[in-house]
Amino acid sequence: MISKNKLIEKKKKLEELEKRLLNDKKLPLLRSNLVFGEGSIKAQIFFIGEAPGLKEDQLRRPFVGRSGELLTKTLLSIGIKREDVYITNLVKRRPPENRDPSLEEIKKYEPYLKEEIKLIDPQIIITLGRLALKDFIPDIKIGQAQGKIFKIDNRILIPMFHPAFALRGTGNLAKFKKTFDSLPSILGKI
Ligand code: URA
Repeated sequence: MISKNKLIEKKKKLEELEKRLLNDKKLPLLRSNLVFGEGSIKAQIFFIGEAPGLKEDQLRRPFVGRSGELLTKTLLSIGIKREDVYITNLVKRRPPENRDPSLEEIKKYEPYLKEEIKLIDPQIIITLGRLALKDFIPDIKIGQAQGKIFKIDNRILIPMFHPAFALRGTGNLAKFKKTFDSLPSILGKI
């Protein structure tokens, strides 16, 4: 069990990280708001999406638009409360017109993501979508990798479809839900 003092220290370091991000004027996409990760600092499951959308930019919170609603609802359907996990993005500011973040943008924000992971220190990382998966395993297709278990730097990586993909048709939604439904059994095996 992590001590109270360690938790206070962790929280302080996360706040410092957020402040550094906010003040880093060399980062791309500075015209939009900073959307830092949120959730439990004790989380054992760490979700990584791509980049904030319009609603996330407005509210300065990750996954609070339609994709976020689906993510929150689907997590709850398998008995996981959103506030018990940690949720963040590869890129912490919204790309214009909701385009995908570029590889260059992802690389520029990457040191901050790495620090965020190190500070939260989760056992399991779940990447949401193709781009987040690519950041960890460049040469694998999401269709083949999703729902499988990978070991990366002493952590478990489970790639999942992005909720935005699930919102593009009932077939996609069924695939997305199926992987989430298998999560409790995957977690039980770890
Ligand atoms: N899509 C993402 O990848 N991240 C968000 O925060 C919202 C939508």
